[in-house]
Amino acid sequence: MSARLLTTIAQVREFTGVARRQGHVIGCVPTMGDLHAGHGALIERARTECGSVVVTVFVNPIQFDRQDDYERYTRRLEGDLEFCAARSVDAVFAPAVEEMYPEPMATFVDVPDLARHLCGEFRPGHFRGVATVVAKLFHIVQPDAAYFGEKDAQQLAIIQRMVRDLNMAVRIVPVPTVREPDGLAMSSRNRRLSPEERAAAPVLYRALRAAENAVVTGERDAAKVKSAALGVIAGEPAMRVEYLEVVDAMMQPVAEVSGTVRLVAAAWLGQTRLIDNLACEDQRRREHRPGR
Ligand code: PAF
Repeated sequence: MSARLLTTIAQVREFTGVARRQGHVIGCVPTMGDLHAGHGALIERARTECGSVVVTVFVNPIQFDRQDDYERYTRRLEGDLEFCAARSVDAVFAPAVEEMYPEPMATFVDVPDLARHLCGEFRPGHFRGVATVVAKLFHIVQPDAAYFGEKDAQQLAIIQRMVRDLNMAVRIVPVPTVREPDGLAMSSRNRRLSPEERAAAPVLYRALRAAENAVVTGERDAAKVKSAALGVIAGEPAMRVEYLEVVDAMMQPVAEVSGTVRLVAAAWLGQTRLIDNLACEDQRRREHRPGR
C-alpha cells in the first residue's frame, strides 16, 4: 500500500491525532530524502517498534553552510514515496520550504558545546539548523520515538542532548551505520562520486579500522591512534582529510584514550564530502568490566 503524502502541518496533526486516538505508538524518521538502505534500516527499526511510522522528507535550507550544496542536494520525492511504500511507512511528510519557514526564523535551537568541533567547526551554523528543524519536526509530528543513524554521530549526540535539556517527550533511537560490502558508509552523497572516487572512498573506513585496531591493541596516545588512520589514508592521494579525531561522548577531542571513545573523520573526494565514525573501547576498560 502507498504511504500517505502529507504536505502541510495541519495534515500531519490530523493524521497523528487519529493514530494516537487509535492507541498507536508514533515513530518518526527525519530525513532529507534521496532515501537509501541506511534510511531503510531506520524505517525498518521504527516499523518493528511503532504502530504508526511517519517519514519526513525535507531538504532543510537552514542547515546548509553553502548555497550551492543546498541547491544540488538530490530531490526525488516520487522515488522516496515508492521506497517508503515498499517498507509499509504510514505517512510521508514532505513540506515545501514555505510551510516550514513562512517567515525568517527568529528562534533557534543551539547546542554549542557539542557543535563546537568536528563538522561544526567546518560547517558554521550547520548544527543550529539541524537542531532547529528537528525540534520543529518533533513539535509537528509529536512522535513517541525518533530514529537517527549513528553514521551522523555528532548530529545524534546533539539531538540526544537537545531532547534531554528541553525535556522533549520523545525517545531517540540510534541505529547502527549501514555499510556497502566494501565498508563505505551509506550516504546520499555517495551517488555523487565518480567511479574512480567511489573506488577510493572505502579507504576512510579502512583508516578508521586501523585506528580502532590501535586502540584495541592497547594504544592510548590519541596522536598515535590518529597516525595509524592517517597512514592508511596517505595511500589514497585523491582523499583530502578535513578532520580526523578521537573524541569523547561530548564530541570533544581527547589526548588520551580512556573508556569508550569515538574515532570520527570527514574527508573530501573531489567535490564530495564523506563522514564516518567508529566507537571503540580501550582494552583496560574491557578487561576490568565485571563479568568478563
Ligand atoms: O540527517 C539528516 O538527514 C538531517 O540532518 C535531518 C536530521 C533530517 C535534519 O534535517
